[in-house]
Amino acid sequence: TYLGIDIGTSAVKVILMGENGDVLDSQSESYGFDSPHSLWREQNPEIWWTGTRAAMTKIRTRQSYAWSAVAGIGLSGQMHGAVCLDQQNNPVRPAILWNDGRAFKECDTLNQQLPHLGESSGVPAMPGFTAPKLLWLKQFEPDTFSKIHKVILPKDYVRLKLTGELCTDVSDAAGTLWLNEHLRSWDENVLAASGITTSHMPKLIEGNEISGTLTVETAVEFGLSIETPVCGGGGDAAVGGIGIGAINEGDAFVSLGTSGQIFVAKERYVANPQKLVHAFAHAIPDRWYQMACLLNGASPLAWFGSICGQPVPTLLEEAEQHGTGNGSEMFLPYLSGERTPHNNPFATGSFQGVTSTTERHHMTQAILEGIAYSLRDCLNALSEDGLPFQELGAIGGGARSRYWLQMIADVLEVPINQYVGGETGPALGAARLAMISVQGGRLEEVCTTPAVSEAFQPKADRQAYHREKYQIFTDYYRRLEPTMG
Ligand code: XUL
Repeated sequence: TYLGIDIGTSAVKVILMGENGDVLDSQSESYGFDSPHSLWREQNPEIWWTGTRAAMTKIRTRQSYAWSAVAGIGLSGQMHGAVCLDQQNNPVRPAILWNDGRAFKECDTLNQQLPHLGESSGVPAMPGFTAPKLLWLKQFEPDTFSKIHKVILPKDYVRLKLTGELCTDVSDAAGTLWLNEHLRSWDENVLAASGITTSHMPKLIEGNEISGTLTVETAVEFGLSIETPVCGGGGDAAVGGIGIGAINEGDAFVSLGTSGQIFVAKERYVANPQKLVHAFAHAIPDRWYQMACLLNGASPLAWFGSICGQPVPTLLEEAEQHGTGNGSEMFLPYLSGERTPHNNPFATGSFQGVTSTTERHHMTQAILEGIAYSLRDCLNALSEDGLPFQELGAIGGGARSRYWLQMIADVLEVPINQYVGGETGPALGAARLAMISVQGGRLEEVCTTPAVSEAFQPKADRQAYHREKYQIFTDYYRRLEPTMG
């Protein structure tokens, strides 16, 4: 069996995968983030490790037989987070996350100083990426900056705890901007522009290579062999792709987690910096991907649920039962600023078209539509030379909702496939990478596409309706933008 560990933004998820690729068990442990100032989003790296230990221990208790057969561990995680370590490998401050918007000025500095950054690093500097954060620390927290010995990524902190190794993989390194995407190696120029050098970087490997084995301490704690290998793993976007077999040219999916993405696998490296498309190294060798990324995926729905004191499934049920789907209500989902297509950390969310007859389900409907329209923005960014795929798979928590998937198919005008187990997300991809690293080769054999549980075809009448509303949505943002920030 194999363990896949995904260090998410709102929870860590651990799955136990059998030799035949089936998920035998899974366990999530939730946590929050801190926002001590506007635009700031931070987490103490220890919460990732505490959550991982708790989840592993629970699975071990439930699955003692399958647990004793664990042959490898794979890691996936939220990308772009700056985890800065001192000489003793302790964090010098809380990690600065992917949805943190503070380093916007530093992005301008990097983009001006390195005019070809978008071509070599896959995308121009945007707030939330790791490189501008280091420049920000250099200027605003010089004491902290001077203590930095290594900069690693969130999942690599858990690797450090498991194996004692400082190591990352190319797909996660891709999100730092310090990777030359084509060469899949550290780029000294971009590191220098961020005030650091390759000596601050961890060892770099491919996602399906082995980074090390468990320390005596962790092996004893989890009752695993000290020889249990931990593979490179990858950033959650790429590893989500491994989980549904998106590894060959044009394999594509929409991810509806805390963030949202449209992802297309590529067999060669093609940058498209003008459209803010992320062209990053995939989690397996000789593959890349293009992605348009929303900072606000399914998270505005979770936010609304917490405000209303209702679980998300209840909100979805209400919207489906009551909604005519033709409401006047409109929602801009930019609760954490937005990356595609606005690159604006100051973007905010808002409701429009609300009247005294508006009920909760109308507002849920508007939120679902607003996120779907943002995905339309992503699709447009990726489809400059025509649509690069025929259909999209769906992964992440939001992929559970048949109602939402039909709406997204109507808005994007692309068929959407819901997969059996599609909500599992990157943890499955992480376990698959572990299996590949241990067994060698077998990439195509392991990275299969799960069975389609339901296929959603765009419906002509709804397409027409959403085309019109999407125009109103984009105008609405354009008019409000000058008032934001
Ligand atoms: C990708 C991105 C998010 C994070 C968090 O560019 O920012 O997907 O990885 O999930």
